[in-house]
Amino acid sequence: MNILVIHGPNLNMLGKRDEKLYGTFSLDDLYGEVSDYFENHEFSFFQSNHEGELIDVIQHAEEENYDALLINPGAYTHTSIAIRDALELISIPKVEVHLSNIDQREDFRKTDYIKDVCHERFMGKKIDSYIEAIKFIENLVLS
Ligand code: DQA
Repeated sequence: MNILVIHGPNLNMLGKRDEKLYGTFSLDDLYGEVSDYFENHEFSFFQSNHEGELIDVIQHAEEENYDALLINPGAYTHTSIAIRDALELISIPKVEVHLSNIDQREDFRKTDYIKDVCHERFMGKKIDSYIEAIKFIENLVLS
């Protein structure tokens, strides 16, 4: 499968953020672990701190022939109706991922604008959230 992995703002700073929530690994380490675990799939990784750039990439995901999309929108999860609307436009499998458990943190993180336009949500297990999400995609697409 060809899987697009999208990260939103501040996730380029992994390794420098709160260790308890996000671990000590960098975003490149995360990319490496995911690619090594699923050697049978092709991954395209994209990160941006800009809402419009994230929307552009989401809008084109289907015509670029990706089989599925994995997204950790960072703080845009809790604020961006525009990212929600972009996700709603595309019909390939979409899975939301978070390193931390956003339901067990500040109340403002409990607002999740993309939850119900994604097929599933995995969170709270750092890199394992991504591993679980990709296994879910495998079951969805390959079964
Ligand atoms: C996050 C959770 C968000 O609330 C936060 O703004 C992030 C990271 C996570 O992966 O746990 O930047 O999406």
